[in-house]
Amino acid sequence: MKIRLNYFTGTGNSLRILTTCKEIFERKNYEVEIKSITEKTDINADFDLVGFCFPVYAFGLPRVCREYLNDISKQPDSKNAFLLVTCGEIDEVGFALDIGKKILKKKNYNVTYSDAIHMPANWVTFITLPEKKEAETILEKAKEKTGVIANNIINNKEYHRQFNIPEKLNKFGLYRQHYLFHRFGIYNMWKMFRVYDSCNSCGACSEVCPTDSIVMKDGKPKWVSSCEQCMRCVNYCKQEAIYQTYGGNTKGKSKYIEPGFKPLKQ
Ligand SMILES: Cc1cc2nc3c(=O)[nH]c(=O)nc-3n(C[C@H](O)[C@H](O)[C@H](O)COP(=O)(O)O)c2cc1C
Repeated sequence: MKIRLNYFTGTGNSLRILTTCKEIFERKNYEVEIKSITEKTDINADFDLVGFCFPVYAFGLPRVCREYLNDISKQPDSKNAFLLVTCGEIDEVGFALDIGKKILKKKNYNVTYSDAIHMPANWVTFITLPEKKEAETILEKAKEKTGVIANNIINNKEYHRQFNIPEKLNKFGLYRQHYLFHRFGIYNMWKMFRVYDSCNSCGACSEVCPTDSIVMKDGKPKWVSSCEQCMRCVNYCKQEAIYQTYGGNTKGKSKYIEPGFKPLKQ
């Protein structure tokens, strides 16, 4: 069986999930290919199973993920697929899975398995991230859950995580936050990135950006409109120099990158 796995990741969580799936699939002697959607490679009809894993952004899918799904070719025959999302809070998945499944259906994918996996949150400019120990515990549990999911998938079990309203919001609040980020925030919040004086002009932020959205100008990073706000730059910066205006301070806050993730090497 030939399996193609596709991910987008800011801080390594979504890649970690698919890497774990890949290891499990390969132990069963399946042939597995894993690709970042930023490479923009289409998915041909050769694969028997196609898997996707994306982070949840504001109760939805990142723009770059929706665009990728909308751009891939329609499969000539119905193709089995699974869709996983990684989230910072398990009850804050919102519409992410439904959005992905809807697009995949149009592309003739038969999504038989869809689920969310709780991973350490990374939206460091606007929330408080878990401390190192707590992040390790979350990662440990996520690894276990991914193992179960991967085995379920190869044993042809079907499952769909149900939509729910997050505990801390009502329906109006959920729609409002989703709408504000995806219709307004994504097109404007990249303008809010700044650097503290501790920026040493090393350019690492620009090198690691998965969407090539940071250019170095006069020795300082400048963000452009293709920025997905994936937080890789903010969490990766060794000088902890990146923040966002209007309350997106990062000084003294704990940062997060999935421990095995090496963005410079990918
Ligand atoms: C802009 C942004 C918005 C986010 N919104 C949500 C959200 O609505 N619900 C949630 O559970 N996690 C949210 N998160 C947390 C991420 O989904 C989570 O940390 C994910 O595992 C990151 O995956 P990655 O490392 O593959 O990028 C958000 C993160 C970012 C950067």
